[in-house]
Amino acid sequence: MQYAHPQLNRHGELHHLLSIEGLPRDVLLHIMDTAQGFVSFGDRDVKKVPLLRGKSVFNLFFENSTRTRTTFEIAAKRLSADIFNLDIQRSSTAKGESLLDTIANLEAMDADIFVVRHSESGAPFLIARHTPDHVHVVNAGDGRHAHPTQGLLDMMTIRHYKPAFTALTVAIVGDIVHSRVARSAIHALTTLGVPEVRAVGPKTLVPGDLRSMGVRICHDISEGLRGADVVMMLRLQNERMAGGLLPSASEFNMMYGLTAERLRLARDDAIVMHPGPINRGVEIDSAVADGPQSVILPQVRFGIAVRMAVLSIVANNAA
Ligand code: CP
Repeated sequence: MQYAHPQLNRHGELHHLLSIEGLPRDVLLHIMDTAQGFVSFGDRDVKKVPLLRGKSVFNLFFENSTRTRTTFEIAAKRLSADIFNLDIQRSSTAKGESLLDTIANLEAMDADIFVVRHSESGAPFLIARHTPDHVHVVNAGDGRHAHPTQGLLDMMTIRHYKPAFTALTVAIVGDIVHSRVARSAIHALTTLGVPEVRAVGPKTLVPGDLRSMGVRICHDISEGLRGADVVMMLRLQNERMAGGLLPSASEFNMMYGLTAERLRLARDDAIVMHPGPINRGVEIDSAVADGPQSVILPQVRFGIAVRMAVLSIVANNAA
């Protein structure tokens, strides 16, 4: 697709969802408001609508996933689409077929939407640049870069518990440097007008350039948590650590792990979020993850509604 904007069509509507960065506030709110209409679907006897009947959605997960892949599949099925999960380990990728050749072959099978998770930052953008106008690409997480549907489900969760974005203090804690979740959340929070976003963690895991986005950097956990309305914990991404960034997981837990005692520094009604999967006893203690302020499982549920919204919006916007 060769429009001036990598994600929007000539009418300013969402054509691909590649990143929250660069999306106008009204587009974010349109996705969230559409998702709100899908939130109650899980409680219905018949959980289906025909919005994507006849459309083919391909889940291409080149990295592991439990929540994102499954909730995209549930979302596509609830919209009556046909969903195909390519088993990457058993696909011809393992024989050396290139990403773009794989995409071209799936297009020949009449793909309408590609949902892509890849370890390389930018892979979904590359695919979007090489697909015809009637095909849509949704980024399900690329390298350290972006995880836009996670960012959107995080905003849905925050809005549910704390409706006034413009009055919030949000603390994002932990391994920020490797986190596409943090990057997408920061773009969404600033676009929605959150006045104080804090990035909390050791110097090795918090990139200093976040200051240019208006983010307050706190290397002291107490300073980072004090008075926060929302505490977003991040997974320590051992698989992306080159080495030397951390002395040990137990030392990280001692300095930055969210314990019940530390959580008392935040507001009494603060919510605790985590994108999953959790390293219990490393970035978050079980007493907090399973405690009364945790909204970790509601986040997962909002993920279905957000993914239904994104799939239905891109598929129903004309090229
Ligand atoms: N939050 C998230 O992306 O989880 P998965 O890796 O299980 O999809």
